[in-house]
Amino acid sequence: MVKIAPSILNADFSCLGEQIRSVEQGGADWIHLDIMDGHFVPNITIGPMVVQAVRRVTRLPLDVHLMISDADRYIDDFHQAGADLITVHVEACPHLWRTLETIRERGCKTGITLNPATPLTVLQPVLHLVDLVLIMSVEPGFGGQKFIPDSLHRIKQLSSWRREHKYKYLIEVDGGIDINTAPQVVAAGADVLVIGKAIFSQADIPAAVQAIRNKLIG
Ligand code: DX5
Ligand code: ZN
Repeated sequence: MVKIAPSILNADFSCLGEQIRSVEQGGADWIHLDIMDGHFVPNITIGPMVVQAVRRVTRLPLDVHLMISDADRYIDDFHQAGADLITVHVEACPHLWRTLETIRERGCKTGITLNPATPLTVLQPVLHLVDLVLIMSVEPGFGGQKFIPDSLHRIKQLSSWRREHKYKYLIEVDGGIDINTAPQVVAAGADVLVIGKAIFSQADIPAAVQAIRNKLIG
């Protein structure tokens, strides 16, 4: 069963608790939190304090996507804030093996990701170690961007490596997912869909989550 992970980047932060309840009502599986530092990516968003606040209003797994330089320095903070899964960018972690070990030792699930123009082969040495691989289908930094169609090949490649080597990771996709691109990425092999604008820009948020779910089932 495909998981839907609403990204709160496009949520209304003046009533974040209610917004999270709305996606829960619609049947969301995880909450995706985009952490940006204005350095690794050109935008600044939220830090551990907001993750902690979200932790207090939901029992859903918190899927924390770190788009920050020197991610190693902040793993403890996000773990303590209540992250269940921590995903790091290979471009921001020169000692990936150690980074993943730290995440796992804290008791969190491990995720790795890479920018759309970074070759997938860079992941190969650690694929057996990770719980999740995130394919960025837009350049990280902002919500509401257009899906990069080449991402479909990348999802297929990861799916075929998983089959071939009996790896266990989930394949997550992030950026430009909506009612049209969702079925395409699922057909390519995606297990978890991060969705921001297509959910939070709608007046009826629970219905927006359900509409995507129905599209995938139907
Ligand atoms: C982009 C973020 C995404 C983003 C997805 O850097 O990682 O999670 O919020 O938003 P949409 O679905 O609007 O592309
Ligand atoms: Zn994200």
